[in-house]
Amino acid sequence: MGQDSTKGRKVTIFDFVVKMPIHKFDLINLDQNPNLKSQIEELSKLSWPEFLLHGDVRHWSSLFNIFSGYQIAFVAEQYKVIAVGHTVPFIWDGSTDDLPENLDILMNRAVQDCNTIKKPNCLSALAVVIHPDYRKENLSARMIEAMIDLGKEHGIENLLAPLRPTLKSKYPEMPFDEYINMQTRNGELFDPWIRVHLRMGAEVLKIMRESIKVIGTVSEWEEWTGMKFPDSGQYLIEGGMQPLIIDKEKNHGVYTEPNLWVRHTIA
Ligand SMILES: CC(C)(COP(=O)(O)OP(=O)(O)OC[C@H]1O[C@@H](n2cnc3c(N)ncnc32)[C@H](O)[C@@H]1OP(=O)(O)O)[C@@H](O)C(=O)NCCC(=O)NCCS
Repeated sequence: MGQDSTKGRKVTIFDFVVKMPIHKFDLINLDQNPNLKSQIEELSKLSWPEFLLHGDVRHWSSLFNIFSGYQIAFVAEQYKVIAVGHTVPFIWDGSTDDLPENLDILMNRAVQDCNTIKKPNCLSALAVVIHPDYRKENLSARMIEAMIDLGKEHGIENLLAPLRPTLKSKYPEMPFDEYINMQTRNGELFDPWIRVHLRMGAEVLKIMRESIKVIGTVSEWEEWTGMKFPDSGQYLIEGGMQPLIIDKEKNHGVYTEPNLWVRHTIA
């Protein structure tokens, strides 16, 4: 316990004054610590809007078996999981056309690629989740660094990430393309999650137009959101980056959201 979270790179005075996380933690992967799965699932439930746990990503459970070595976590005392980083390796030809169109295709491709003899040349981040009690301590950047180190260990050249901009849900009616370019008064990008990645050297590749699709009956949507949907139409839902579309006749609701592909080059 108590490993320095900055291990593996040069530490500057700036780190100690501004950037050092308050808590000490160890970096582990799920392959060595499979018993942490339930804590990771609990953390997901705490951190995502309920409806996102019902998306169309078929191979998500493979993170906990085939890809357990690619799931990393920061654990504090008594093996408390304070942050999680989900990644999968796959083969990418380096072109934007070859980027998977959604998370389901991405996961499916990772599963197919692990059955070929060709070695994956890229790692895709799927999610970073920081425990609510440990947020605003700069741990998200530490997790991205840990993902880059994981890629290095596997001789991988790129860390890709389809980003879910964290504050887009506060502007659900603004077009995604407009939102991702929105700036603060001092000229920084408005969205903190995109900002963190770009500050760490990531480059923007392209928009993943429909990263996830969530389809449910009207009553399922009412349960997931705690709202009522009396008529067909568009509804703003808490945590939704775009409106939910309800069709009463078909008795279903459909929600989709875009992500932004970025790439970190692993030296
Ligand atoms: C998004 C998340 C990973 C960020 O981690 P964090 O520990 O809260 O944030 P950090 O302390 O590392 O700060 C990262 C940046 O976000 C900003 N930030 C953090 N919380 C914020 C908030 N509620 N509102 C506005 N900005 C915020 C910080 O100021 C910082 O930006 P800056 O360095 O330019 O000032 C975390 O909030 C989380 O787990 N959220 C739920 C899951 C999620 O959305 N994951 C990201 C998509 S995969």
